[in-house]
Formats: sequence, C-alpha cells, structure tokens
Amino acid sequence: MPDHILVIDEGTTSTRAMLFSADGTPLDTEQQELTQSYPGPGLVEHDPAEIWDKTLACARAVASRAAPGSIRAIGITNQRETVVFWNRRTGEPLAPAIVWQDRRTAPLCRRLKEDGHETAVQAKTGLLLDPYFSATKIAWACENWPQLREAGDDLAIGTIESWLIFKLTGAHITDATNASRTALMAIGSGQWDDGLLSLFGVDRRHLPEIVDCAGSFGETALLGGSIPICGMAGDQQAAAIGQACLRPGDTKATFGTGAFILTQAGRRLPTSRHRLLSTIAWQLNGERHYALEGAIFVAGSLIQWLRDSVKLIRTSAETEEIARSVPDNGGVYLVPALSGLGAPHWEPEARAAISGLSFASTRAHIVRAALEAMAHQASDLKSAFAADGQDWAKLRVDGGMMANDWLAQDLADMLDLEVERPAFAETTALGAAMLAGVGSGLFADLEEAAAMRGKLESFTPKMDGKTRETRLSGWKHAVEAVIG
Ligand code: G3P
Repeated sequence: MPDHILVIDEGTTSTRAMLFSADGTPLDTEQQELTQSYPGPGLVEHDPAEIWDKTLACARAVASRAAPGSIRAIGITNQRETVVFWNRRTGEPLAPAIVWQDRRTAPLCRRLKEDGHETAVQAKTGLLLDPYFSATKIAWACENWPQLREAGDDLAIGTIESWLIFKLTGAHITDATNASRTALMAIGSGQWDDGLLSLFGVDRRHLPEIVDCAGSFGETALLGGSIPICGMAGDQQAAAIGQACLRPGDTKATFGTGAFILTQAGRRLPTSRHRLLSTIAWQLNGERHYALEGAIFVAGSLIQWLRDSVKLIRTSAETEEIARSVPDNGGVYLVPALSGLGAPHWEPEARAAISGLSFASTRAHIVRAALEAMAHQASDLKSAFAADGQDWAKLRVDGGMMANDWLAQDLADMLDLEVERPAFAETTALGAAMLAGVGSGLFADLEEAAAMRGKLESFTPKMDGKTRETRLSGWKHAVEAVIG
C-alpha cells in the first residue's frame, strides 16, 4: 500500500513540492522562485500561469523521482487571501493575481469603515476591514478589469489552492481555512454569506464550493498514474497543524514572508476585542476548529528588501553575525510598515521608518534593528492576545527566519517566554502532509498524524527586565511616529 505523501506548498515568494514518508521523514524537495510584480506603490501581483507552471514542474520533478506507485495522496497548502481570476472553460487566467500584501483597496476599506460596516463584518467573518482580505480585492477587480465581466458565467474566482486544484482536477473548490480569509464566508456557518456577497458586490456563481481540509477532493493524472488530493489548508493553518497546535491555547509563530501567530481556540469561535482575527484552524467532517490570529505583514520580506533593494546585506544568513557584532541597537528602531501595518494596528496606509539614527549609527545597528523588529511586533501581539484572554504559555516557532539562533533567542528574551523550535523547519508542508494523511486514511485523526513531528529545541529567556522595557518603550515611540 503506498504511504508517501506529496505536498504542494505554494508560498508568496516560491513554490515547492516535498515528499514525506508516513513517519514524517522528508524524502525529497523541489523549489522554484516566483516573480514578484510591483506595478505601483502598494500594488503586488503574481502571474497565475507562472504559479501553475512552476508548481506543476516542481510536483512533477518530485513525483518522477519517487518509487513508482509510492505516492498515496497529495496535500496542498498556500499563501492565503491572494485571489486568482480565470476562465473555467479554457482554464486560462483572465488577470494577474492580486496578492495578499496588495494595498490597492485601502480607499474602499476606509469608505466601508466610515459607512459603519466594520462591526458587522467582524461579527460575521472574524476579520476586519483591511485590504489584506480577498473580498475587496475581488470587488476592485470586477469593477476595474472589464474582461472579468465579459467572461460572464465562465468567470471563476478563487484563492491559490482553488486555482491549483482546478488545474489539477477540474473541480472548483476551496477549503474552509482559505475561505475564512476572504471576508465572504460567515465563519460560524462555513458558508458564503449573502449579506457579505452583496456588501462587496460579489456574485456567488463565480465562487468555489467550500469543503473540509481533509477528504477526497479528486484525482490528478498529471503527475504519473492517478493520485488523489486529500488535504488542503492555508499555509498558516497548515503550520499550526504541523506544529501540533491541536489543543486550545497551543500557539505557533511562523516567520516567513510575513509573520503569523495563531493560538488554537478549540470548537468555540473566539471573539477579539483587541484587533486580532478569528479564523478557522481546520474543518474536518464538517466540524470547525477555530484559532485567534495575529498577522504581521512584513518579516522575511524585510530582510529580502534589505538585501535586494537597499543592498545593505549580501545574504539573509549574514544578518545573524551582523546583529551579534554590536552590543545593542544603539537607539535605532525600524518599523517595517513596507505594506502598511497589520495586527494589532491595522494601518494600511502607514509606511516604514528607520528612526534614532546618529553619526554613531552603523550598518550593523540598522540590520540589528531590522531583526529586533520581529520580536517587537510579536510583543505587540502578545499583549493583544493576553488582553483577549489568550496569553501564551510557550511559543512554537518556525519559518525560514527562525534558522537564525540570535533571532530565536531575542524572541524568547523580549516575550519573556520559552520558544520552541522544531529541528525540521518546514512545518507548513508537514501540516499539509498530516491533513492528506488523515484524508487518505493513513491516520485516524490529527493526533495520530502528529507523530510525524520530529525533534524540538528550546530557547529560554535570559534578558533582564530593564533592558526589555527600554527596548519596548523605544519601539512604542517609533510605531507612534509612523502611525501619527
Ligand atoms: O496570509 C498570508 C500568508 O498566508 C502568507 O504566507 O508563507 O507566504 O509568508 P507566507
């Protein structure tokens, strides 16, 4: 009986395929970078055809190297909120994908807020009125791109997993975690909501059917043989599953392009009074488990920007040594609002700033301030979670940036909390493998699938309270200057 799981992990900056054995051992991987298109300030687009071509190429490469007949099922995980528009008859994209970081709908969100819609939107969706979520992106596209209207009934709209599964199987479906990020689904019912559809002017006939995160979602013949797709979840939910955040209170932070912290909330829908998001952690057999989420828009992308645009560093890895080369930040703070500020501030039009510079400031201070911004942002979220009655007992971290030991220790220090890091950092892919394992009957449930998780490493706080307070008050002033 085949027992390997092929995972497609389509992120913001790259797409990849990974093969896992049933015990969680990563057997193979293939990755390709994705083109980031910035057609104007605040605009971020992807080419859906490129996403599909590169994803298929990665999946084919891994499948072709696997032992014949060994792949039991496919799991899909993806950057969330990003929307794709395609023609369901031809299977061709009709427009660029509008990426989650895109801020073009800030004026529309402001208008809807001024008209008093935010409370009702939050009550129904668990989300806030921010350009981050898919609904206003869809509204903007349908109004500004005539080819979408011209496609009539042939127009299909979906987030990335929906686009990929359509290309793989022809089905137009989305899973409940991804649907919960659109602001079109009533989070308590798991269905598209007529009131939200009419508020954002979205026609239900263009949207996918919402399904569970594990099950039989169709088969693909594109990777050799016929392989069923059995797992689907947004990447942050998949990471929470991969980190075995299966009990209420379990919390993970993934530092990828952005940083996303999720606390599992169990079967009861949490409500935030402190600008956090309620979201679906997973849906299995029609039963929804929820989470409280804090979304930080800029994390790894800040380091990438320092490397590629500002050219302050040559590699991401060297930031660790540079940060260690100075005893402190020398009074320099970096507020990375390169695409506005997410939770808990939600200031889509805020822009980034480096403050506290003097002639004594060096490149090392700026790089250190960039790394310190991660723990500063996480600390703001910790306060918001605590105020919502969900203080963290421990933080499970993952994502590319967490390979940096200095950063993991700084998080433990600034949060005054144990930080736990798995030896195998690809928890997003692992979570999707766990879901596909459950969906294909390899595991009875997520608890059983959690045995796929490997060894863990711990960082404990070492910083004195005074240093922490000085840092946090410097950060607070820097943020206030940006928000105004
Ligand atoms: O909500 C956006 C998130 O899903 C993007 O994830 O991994 O590309 O930072 P990532």
